[in-house]
Amino acid sequence: MLSVKTLAESPNLTCIPPAYSFLSSSQAISSPDDRGGGEQPIPIIDFSLLTLSTPDQRSKIIQELDYACREWGFFMVINHGVDEGLMNSMLEGCREFFDLTDEEKRVNEGKHVLDPIRYGTSFNASVDEVSLWRDYLKVIVHQEFHCPNKPADFSNVLQEYTKAVRDVVRGLLEGISENLGLESCYINRALDLESSLQILIANLYPPCPQPELAMGLPSHSDHGLLTMLIENGISGLQIQHKGKWVNVNAAPGAFLVNTGDHVEILSNGKYRSVLHRAVVNNKSTRISIALANGPSPEAIVSPAEELLGNGSSRAAYIGMKYKDYVELQQSNKLSGKSCLDRVKIWPK
Ligand code: SIN
Ligand code: FE2
Repeated sequence: MLSVKTLAESPNLTCIPPAYSFLSSSQAISSPDDRGGGEQPIPIIDFSLLTLSTPDQRSKIIQELDYACREWGFFMVINHGVDEGLMNSMLEGCREFFDLTDEEKRVNEGKHVLDPIRYGTSFNASVDEVSLWRDYLKVIVHQEFHCPNKPADFSNVLQEYTKAVRDVVRGLLEGISENLGLESCYINRALDLESSLQILIANLYPPCPQPELAMGLPSHSDHGLLTMLIENGISGLQIQHKGKWVNVNAAPGAFLVNTGDHVEILSNGKYRSVLHRAVVNNKSTRISIALANGPSPEAIVSPAEELLGNGSSRAAYIGMKYKDYVELQQSNKLSGKSCLDRVKIWPK
């Protein structure tokens, strides 16, 4: 397997191999304007107000969180208590991983989509119609903790970081539970977050000579509850908001957070998972680190019973074991909300 990093480093590369061009595929970008993405201020959640504040301040921030989940499915989190040095060490550790030789990285090539450590390129090279301009490392870090052997000393950073992020996720899910009219510990308890499935996805998008033809990651929603993302100061993430692609950049030290399919299912569609994608550029290597935080792999997630029952609110989704849902999404082409559509009963 040739990494995109190695391909991008080939001398005199002025155009991309046809296998990487989205131009003639069904997932083609409809117009050049569509690619650009606009700028819009995204909601910002001050996490410290969720945990430390007076009841008045808390109720204000809880309302802001409700707005962010309802209208955007996306927000930036600041003052979250995760050490900025630790976040930078994560970015550095991932860069060191991608800087290993292709041969060194290949020992982590996974065979099955649920293998604990999976290095690869594109999304799912065995089914992708068009190859993506992206290399990735996926690691299951909770409830079982795994870590590649190289780079040396990465394990402590990864363990500390992923635990710190789980604490932030727990706090956000408490707020989301309250906003759904449930007890604050509802999601935590019902989905057994003590044994939650947490997956690290480190992405490397090397400079691309024809960024308008290639794609880092096509439009998709995430399978879990909340994805917490950091990046190396280079932009590329776009989210869909009111039918338009919006560019989003993380402020230094902040997390970009998006709601996943399991928030949509659990809330019976009150909060939607947000479509997003990663575009590439011709100047700088972008590294992003997404931590996908889901329920327990054994949890069968259906809309919360408490939200159903009064007339109009029948369950809009059928329950599926989370592990099976992840396997389904990762075994197919990454495309919009195709996985969620499989469990959606109505509206179709
Ligand atoms: C993702 O969707 O998992 C990552 C997108 C990004 O690289 O910003
Ligand atoms: Fe994603």
